Amino acid sequence: MTQAKTLINVAALIVLLGATSAANAYDADWKRGRVYYRSVCTTCHTASPVGSINPSTRTKADWASYMMLDKHAKGKDAVSKYVSTAYRASIKSTNKAAEKFAATPDKELSEDIKAFLVRGAKDGEAPATCS
Ligand code: HEC
Repeated sequence: MTQAKTLINVAALIVLLGATSAANAYDADWKRGRVYYRSVCTTCHTASPVGSINPSTRTKADWASYMMLDKHAKGKDAVSKYVSTAYRASIKSTNKAAEKFAATPDKELSEDIKAFLVRGAKDGEAPATCS
């Protein structure tokens, strides 16, 4: 009896561990992040007084913390707002990338954008501009 219970607990633990590692195992797609950054983020930046923001103007560490802190436009709103499914839905009639990635989970898209920014940082694998 005790042995059977132990077995069940071990099995539950294995399932739990499997689920956790699967959740952490998302393999970010920097190419998708690049398309989104250049089409959605940059389109607004170039239309705003701020102008385009090249990934290569910052370091990998800058971008990693920028995405983690999730404060956008000097803290007026959040980066995640512009990554969200709701935001994509609101601009998809005029923005092809927003339309194409309409159903992508927010977390995945956010990881993709971060992967592009870190890769394109000044000390990244492939320093990148916005266009
Ligand atoms: C609707 C317009 C709009 C969209 C969409 C947008 N931004 Fe911005 N962003 C701005 C404006 C305006 C500023 C400048 C704010 C200021 O300096 O007061 C800014 C500033 C920034 C800055 C400079 C640092 C800061 O936060 O002030 C970064 C980095 C940035 N945006 C990243 C992003 C990323 C990444 C996305 C896409 C996921 C994005 N932005 C989407 C309007 C936008």
